[in-house]
Amino acid sequence: MSLSTDYVPSRIKSTDPLHEPWLLTEAEREVFRQRSRESRLRRQAALDGRGEEPIHEVNIPQFDPMALMPERDPNGLPTLSLFSGGGGLDLGFDRAGFSHVGSWEILSDAADTLKTAHPEWNVHGGEDGDVRGVDWNVYRENVAIVHGGPPCQPFSNAGKQRGAADPRDMWPEFVRAVLEARPDVFVAENVAALASATFSDYVEQTILARLGRHYRIHRVLLQAYEYGVPQVRKRVVFFGFRTRTIERRWVAPTPRFRRTGAPANGLPETMGVRAALGLPDTGFDDLSPTIRSALSGPRHTTSILSSVSAQKRFEALRIWPNGVAATREAAQAFVAKNGHFRLSVPDVALLQGFPESWRFSGAVYMQLGQIGNSVAPPVGYAVASSVADALLR
Ligand SMILES: C[S@@+](CC[C@H](N)C(=O)[O-])C[C@H]1O[C@@H](n2cnc3c(N)ncnc32)[C@H](O)[C@@H]1O
Repeated sequence: MSLSTDYVPSRIKSTDPLHEPWLLTEAEREVFRQRSRESRLRRQAALDGRGEEPIHEVNIPQFDPMALMPERDPNGLPTLSLFSGGGGLDLGFDRAGFSHVGSWEILSDAADTLKTAHPEWNVHGGEDGDVRGVDWNVYRENVAIVHGGPPCQPFSNAGKQRGAADPRDMWPEFVRAVLEARPDVFVAENVAALASATFSDYVEQTILARLGRHYRIHRVLLQAYEYGVPQVRKRVVFFGFRTRTIERRWVAPTPRFRRTGAPANGLPETMGVRAALGLPDTGFDDLSPTIRSALSGPRHTTSILSSVSAQKRFEALRIWPNGVAATREAAQAFVAKNGHFRLSVPDVALLQGFPESWRFSGAVYMQLGQIGNSVAPPVGYAVASSVADALLR
């Protein structure tokens, strides 16, 4: 008998069409069920006022991401956004003055986030947001920018790194959109692993060979804390320029902040997590480890942990990164087992560089997934500003 006949499907229906559930036996599923039952009971008791006494105040954050993205004058340059998620890149381009023509996002909850933030935007969500069904020729020569972050799971260090063999690989769709719409500039973001040797053949064949015939392409690695975001988060951004003139005028984004705790170098220092969230001084503060990006992973989770080293850093920061609560009040009421500060969705959004006003739709795991999948908006803003400067010069 093959092992796979022992696997049983999850009873929890996924709201994510790209979700790949874990293959688990009944006994393995029961362990997870038991754990989440206990956690649910503790959380419910806390919310009903039957929990332990709160050990921390409802925090008042000190970090304002909007201050990192001063609104630029509208530049009228029409922009298409693919794989828009919860809108990190869209927000960056918007603050940099670009004109929004349309966003496409297959997850209805993420599309709702965009519609809530900008009811005037033309957001295609759910089935209508699936880029595979769009004929981009209708935008041919009529858009200045096509930008997007094709799903990173096929390349992420946290995943199986199947690259082109992963059915979630949407790079060919991004390439098709650029070749059909022919914008002046394209911008594509992904996990830094895509710039590693493991995927050099993939990048060469799928991206550079096809787009390189029409675009001059630059690859830039960007670190979120160098743009004032209190998090270690390295990403690769591909910039493609259709003409040599635009390419020559372009200057890649350069760091605007120095790492928390690094020696003075003339740049302002990025806030540590505790300072950013307005938590009491414990004598130690540092950047947040990379917030997990795993919406389509094997398990829905309300943890933001991406690695064992991330867990160690959160421990040193006296922050509990699991069971993230929906609100700051709920986080205060639901005391973490180890007595550390419990995070809430608005806190996690802030650590990713989203302003308080940006509200995410869906269940908590879905909101966290949108946040963890996003381009930190101040990074998106730096990217968009560099392109605006080249196009408007
Ligand atoms: C890495 S996230 C993009 C995040 C976004 N750039 C941001 O800054 O917030 C990739 C997104 O692509 C979406 N996606 C995956 N396949 C899609 C498809 N076929 N059509 C449209 N969106 C898709 C996923 O739901 C996910 O939200």
